[in-house]
Amino acid sequence: MRPAILLLALLLSLFLPSSAQNCASDQTFSNNRLYARCSSLGRLSATLHWTYHPSNGTADIAYRATQDSSNFVAWGINPNGTGMIGTNAFFAFHDSGGAVKVITYILPSYTPSVSNSSLSFNVYSREAEYSNGAYTIYATVALPSNKTTLNTAWQAGQVSGGVPVGHATSGDNILSKGSTNLLSGESSENGGGNSRLHRKNIHGVLNAVSWGVLMPLGAIIARYLRVFKSADPAWFYLHVACQCSAYIIGVSGWGLGLKLGSESKGITYHSHRVIGIALFCLATLQVFALLLRPNKDNKYRMYWNVYHHLVGYSVIVLSVVNIFKGFDILDPAKKWKHAYIAIIATLGGVALVLEAVTWAIVLKRKSRSPEKFEYGTNGYGGRQHQGA
Ligand SMILES: *[C@@H]1O[C@H](CO)[C@@H](O)[C@H](O)[C@H]1NC(C)=O
Ligand SMILES: *[C@@H]1O[C@H](CO)[C@@H](O)[C@H](O)[C@H]1NC(C)=O
Ligand SMILES: *[C@@H]1O[C@H](CO)[C@@H](O)[C@H](O)[C@H]1NC(C)=O
Ligand SMILES: *[C@@H]1O[C@H](CO)[C@@H](O)[C@H](O)[C@H]1NC(C)=O
Repeated sequence: MRPAILLLALLLSLFLPSSAQNCASDQTFSNNRLYARCSSLGRLSATLHWTYHPSNGTADIAYRATQDSSNFVAWGINPNGTGMIGTNAFFAFHDSGGAVKVITYILPSYTPSVSNSSLSFNVYSREAEYSNGAYTIYATVALPSNKTTLNTAWQAGQVSGGVPVGHATSGDNILSKGSTNLLSGESSENGGGNSRLHRKNIHGVLNAVSWGVLMPLGAIIARYLRVFKSADPAWFYLHVACQCSAYIIGVSGWGLGLKLGSESKGITYHSHRVIGIALFCLATLQVFALLLRPNKDNKYRMYWNVYHHLVGYSVIVLSVVNIFKGFDILDPAKKWKHAYIAIIATLGGVALVLEAVTWAIVLKRKSRSPEKFEYGTNGYGGRQHQGA
């Protein structure tokens, strides 16, 4: 029952709006600077403060982010797109002399060599400071095309040789983009709504439920239910139903993953992708092999069984590995990873207990009628489904 409840909670949470975060209005700025509005950006402990001047289309901006003093922080406006590429960015960091420096740079690629250069809009002032464990970038900018809804991206990462050199490519560091409405003060994640994050979550849930829960459950049903004479042939149909629905849900989750991957230019999660494609091939093979299953009296049936078990267990192991890789990429709240660990540990525990029970039953039957032993611990040589 417990896994079902956890899964339901996981699914429900997808459709609830993410809790709005307010920025602390008690933040103070040097030189008595005051800002009309502020918004918590929700990622990388960053807040944005600004005053918009409609009369001349400019905005005074303060970007503040808690960060180690040896790292850089950056914030920028993407005038014609979303995400990192094309962002007109301000970088703040400590130079080799220990002074806080601010430079501007338009990001042309995912592997830029950052240097001070002009932006595509006017910058009237720029300044940065570091205090109380946080960088603050102050800037006054002409809003590109006089737009009051800005697509923004922000970042934090390492400095080497006095220049920003790179940042982590998972969790907050790839989710730190969004749009801010200067008039209403509303911010949304990931640029004009968080539909991409939403789809990533759906991809995660579909795959965790299908590959990560239903498939192992189907294997447990096949391995342990068949030992009970009364469960024959019900176990077979349950097993097929479980694996087939897992396959259908799993392939839709897999397709969504491929789509997300093709949209994410510049960042490829190689091992997650390769394992995902291998899983699809193995599972498809498994479905088609069902159609080629030799009759139970056929001498090749034993080989088919060996193959079926090998591929089946490989799929389960790879699925669990890939789900944990997915958790590392998506980096959701810890509770979801913990929930999945609880589910998979419960399934593992159940399998362990049933394994012991099965052995006890089989050994008992064997000692009672050694001649007529038919189960072989339901392994490769074991009795097969009657209708096969
Ligand atoms: C824009 O207008 C505001 C007042 O509305 C003024 O304080 C500010 O200096 C102006 N900025 C520029 C760059 O002209
Ligand atoms: C934005 O609008 C203001 C006021 O109408 C104008 O002075 C300014 O030049 C405009 N800026 C741009 C970039 O078009
Ligand atoms: C982006 O927008 C700016 C200002 O509107 C324009 O000058 C520039 O050519 C645009 N760049 C691209 C790549 O469309
Ligand atoms: C970066 O370039 C601007 C002019 O484009 C200049 O005003 C500023 O001082 C430069 N900053 C640094 C840190 O070199």
